[in-house]
Amino acid sequence: MRKKLFAANWKMNLGPVQARELVRAIRAQLDPQFATLGKEREVMIAPPAILIPAVQQELAGAAIALGAQNMHFEDQGAFTGEISAPMLKAYGVTHVILGHSERRHIFGETDELINKKVKSALRHDLIPVLCVGETLAQREAGDTTQVLTNQLLGGLAELESHQIAKVTIAYEPVWAIGTGKTATPEQAQREHGALRATLIERAGRAVAHGVRILYGGSVTAENVDSLVSRPDIDGALVGGASLKADSFVRIVRALTV
Ligand code: PGA
Repeated sequence: MRKKLFAANWKMNLGPVQARELVRAIRAQLDPQFATLGKEREVMIAPPAILIPAVQQELAGAAIALGAQNMHFEDQGAFTGEISAPMLKAYGVTHVILGHSERRHIFGETDELINKKVKSALRHDLIPVLCVGETLAQREAGDTTQVLTNQLLGGLAELESHQIAKVTIAYEPVWAIGTGKTATPEQAQREHGALRATLIERAGRAVAHGVRILYGGSVTAENVDSLVSRPDIDGALVGGASLKADSFVRIVRALTV
C-alpha cells in the first residue's frame, strides 16, 4: 500500500523566528502521535530555501522530512541565485518540489527544464515531487487530460521505470491554488486515476501502483478527509493551510480524527 504523504509548501512566507515557532508548534502536537501515525503516513515541510538550515535544526529528531521548493539542475557553477541538489542534501533535505505551477507560470519553467531537475534530484537521491496541473482556460477548453499527460510524460522523459518508482506526483489544478476553490473529490479522483493510467502505460502496473499522487490546491482542515479518502489520492500538498500549526496538524491527521 502507498503511504500517504502530507507536505507543507510554505512558498515565500515566514521569517526565521516564525519558521522556528511554527515547527515547534507542529512538533508539540505531532511528536507524541508519531509512533502510531508514522506507520501509515509521512509528513514533509518545504520552507523557503534560506530557512532550510533553521528548520533543519528545529526538526532534529522528528519524524518529519525536510523539503525544498525548487532547485537548479546543475551541481555547481555560474548560476547566480540558484541552489543545487548537493547543497540541499548538505542541509538534510530529502524531497524537492519541482515544476510547481508558480514556477511554470511566473518563472517560465518548461517541461524540458523540469525534466532536467527531476533527473538531478534522482541522481542525488532526493525525492522529486513533480507537480502537474491545468489552468482554468485549459479545463474549460476540454484539454485537462492532454495537459496533464504532457506535463507528466515531459517531466519523466527518458527515465527508466525503476527511477519513476522514486518520484512522487502532485496534481494541483492551477485554478484551485490559493483561490479557495478546491477540485471536488470526484474531479480530483478522475484526474488522479487518469494520471495513474498514464503511469501504467509509461512504467508498468507495479511501478504505477507504488507511485504516490498527492492533491494540492486549497486543501484545508475541512476538505482534506473527503479528498484523501479517494483511492488514487495519496496525500496532500498544502500551501496556505500549512502556515498555521493547527490546520496543518489537522490535515496530517486526516481520516484519523
Ligand atoms: P494552496 O497552495 O494550498 O495555498 O492552494 C497549494 C500549492 O500551491 O502547493
